Amino acid sequence: MASFSEMDVDTIWMDGEFVDWEDAQVHVLTHALHYGSGIFEGVRVYDTDNGPAIFRWDEHLDRFYQSAKPYDLDIEFTREELTEATVELVDRQDLRSCYIRPLAYYGYESLGVSPGDCPTDVAIAAWPWGTYLGDDALENGVDVMVSSWRKHASSQIPTNAKTTGLYVNSMLAGEEARRNGFVEAIVLNKEGNVAEGPGENLFLVRDGELYTPGLSESILDGITRDTVITLAEERGYTVHDNVSISRGELHTADELFFTGSAAEVTPIKQVDNVEIGNGGRGPITEELQTAFFDLVEAGDREEWFHYV
Ligand SMILES: Cc1ncc(COP(=O)(O)O)c(C=O)c1O
Repeated sequence: MASFSEMDVDTIWMDGEFVDWEDAQVHVLTHALHYGSGIFEGVRVYDTDNGPAIFRWDEHLDRFYQSAKPYDLDIEFTREELTEATVELVDRQDLRSCYIRPLAYYGYESLGVSPGDCPTDVAIAAWPWGTYLGDDALENGVDVMVSSWRKHASSQIPTNAKTTGLYVNSMLAGEEARRNGFVEAIVLNKEGNVAEGPGENLFLVRDGELYTPGLSESILDGITRDTVITLAEERGYTVHDNVSISRGELHTADELFFTGSAAEVTPIKQVDNVEIGNGGRGPITEELQTAFFDLVEAGDREEWFHYV
């Protein structure tokens, strides 16, 4: 992953102001730094045939405000204000394709687990971002392991909210995988069924039909997951999007792939050193991946693109 110092970016939006990159600072006693009490989004801008456009911005904004709800984070900026700030941020830095990171968090005022009178601060950053899981991942697929860390149950912490603190679980699973020579992890839920990747949803292909864990399996309701379900159904595939998937079904799948704003559509070629299907990118994965990249290149489905 490229470091920020190597990137040509200079501006961050913080609480209504555009500030220089180096000045986008918080106090060390910021509540969210201690208790993980922030929520965020990860969004891509694609350089489409019609110019740079934010992909599925409306849905990301919906999830941003919904993630804030269980934590009583009171985001004082409207959708229109956040949209205007984001568009200007991308524009000011001349970014044609990039990643956008909106963040809302309990800030600095007092410190205790209760956020008390800490303010809800909001920031948006944007920077260039390439392929998430490595340069050849999209074409050749990735090797993954089933993590020994389980995903927290949605009865323990809301898994449908994109909360900063939750990502220590993702970090543990992903780093365990990388320490063991794999590119990424698959995380099982408390029941031992397949949940998702540390930052990706998961799809399985069997006998020409698609399966993906349902929302009650402790997953994030992924926007790319929804995109792929739509694209697959439009191509006549049956998608079972409310199922439980057992660990063993991973090994016997014809194809497996990850979806996510960062990972886009990434084939999985091995799980725990067991080859999946033909051990490369499967044909249905390739068809849906092509459909996805054609879509974000063309930018022609108006309701899914917000032009910068
Ligand atoms: C835990 C987790 N699951 C799934 C996803 C995929 O969601 P989306 O497609 O909305 O990026 C992400 C990424 O945001 C994630 O962090």
